[in-house]
Amino acid sequence: MVTVVTGASGYIGSHIVANLLARGQAVRATVRDVSDPERVNHLKNLKIADEGSLEIIEMDLFDEAAVNAAIEGCTDVIHTAASVIVRSKNPQKKIVDPSVIGTKNVVAAIERAGCVERFVHTSSTAAIRPMNWYDGQTLTTETWADDATVEENPYGLAKASAERIVRDWHATQPVDSRPRLVTIHPCMVFGPPMSPRHLRGSLALLMTMVRRDIPLVLPMQVSIVDVRDVAEAHVRALTQGEDEGRYLVVAGDMMMGEMVKSLKKKYPERKWRTGVAPYWISLVAAFFHPKIDVSWARRHLKKKLFWDASPAERELGMNWTNPESSLLETMPPILEHDWV
Ligand SMILES: NC(=O)c1ccc[n+]([C@@H]2O[C@H](COP(=O)([O-])OP(=O)(O)OC[C@H]3O[C@@H](n4cnc5c(N)ncnc54)[C@H](OP(=O)(O)O)[C@@H]3O)[C@@H](O)[C@H]2O)c1
Repeated sequence: MVTVVTGASGYIGSHIVANLLARGQAVRATVRDVSDPERVNHLKNLKIADEGSLEIIEMDLFDEAAVNAAIEGCTDVIHTAASVIVRSKNPQKKIVDPSVIGTKNVVAAIERAGCVERFVHTSSTAAIRPMNWYDGQTLTTETWADDATVEENPYGLAKASAERIVRDWHATQPVDSRPRLVTIHPCMVFGPPMSPRHLRGSLALLMTMVRRDIPLVLPMQVSIVDVRDVAEAHVRALTQGEDEGRYLVVAGDMMMGEMVKSLKKKYPERKWRTGVAPYWISLVAAFFHPKIDVSWARRHLKKKLFWDASPAERELGMNWTNPESSLLETMPPILEHDWV
């Protein structure tokens, strides 16, 4: 039994590899550059329980032959690799194509290999959240980000399109020979990074607070889940939960103002900017923010959105790390390695 983890150098992928190795599983970890220490050193240092093994191979999602070689001979696939950016000058090429073309290559490789028994695909709350929602609404896995466009919501488009590819392909496969399929839908992920590269995705939001890049925090709710819980949910989904299940993994939420206050209480020796920006200043700030786009800010600031993660609790047996603990436990590796 070999589990392929795509995007293994990434924040979530690294924790999935760690989780599998701690269980003594054989893991084939795909990375884009095996010679880059920031992509592979932390993986090489992971603890491996008895009978576990780690093979690190090079694979780019756009390279069909490399994707085929990565998946050949394995029983399980956890596909996390994607471009995790929300804005770009060329959103089609930089955000949508890696997810869409990459996921097409992954499902074609699974079909070609013919030996995959379990397939877990990392989707997102972004694949579920339509552009318009009302303040206080709770979303379930019934909805899709079907109204996402490359101009307005390229990341939502990328995640929803990739998930559709996976599900449409699965629906056409013979029921008795196709792999079991589950999609996992995290919200904003926090928790210990293993490499400085892990500060570029969801943790970029935290890093704007740590680096005091913006003079005021935004009046914005952040839905939070711990990276270790996200990894656990992926691994459990290999064998638990419904075939074709869609599982939201969300622990709770904090306002950005609460987040920075909590960080200040824990790390009083550091300087923090705890003032919360008024709405209109927030819109201007969003324009300069590296990880937030203005139309997204307009739809999210001052409003609250909730997620129903109870199916993951019931069917995958998940218990969530408290969001404030996840936030605070993100900090030690950053400070210890001087990644600020
Ligand atoms: N973090 C979150 O808050 C969050 C929330 C919901 C869903 N997700 C989803 O979770 C997954 C992992 O995200 P993450 O937070 O771990 O982000 P990440 O740290 O940026 O990891 C993304 C991984 O995908 C790889 N990748 C990107 N383009 C690739 C390509 N063309 N070929 C092969 N590999 C490629 C990256 O490789 P390099 O190291 O070479 O760049 C990296 O290993 C993504 O599918 C993302 O959409 C994340």
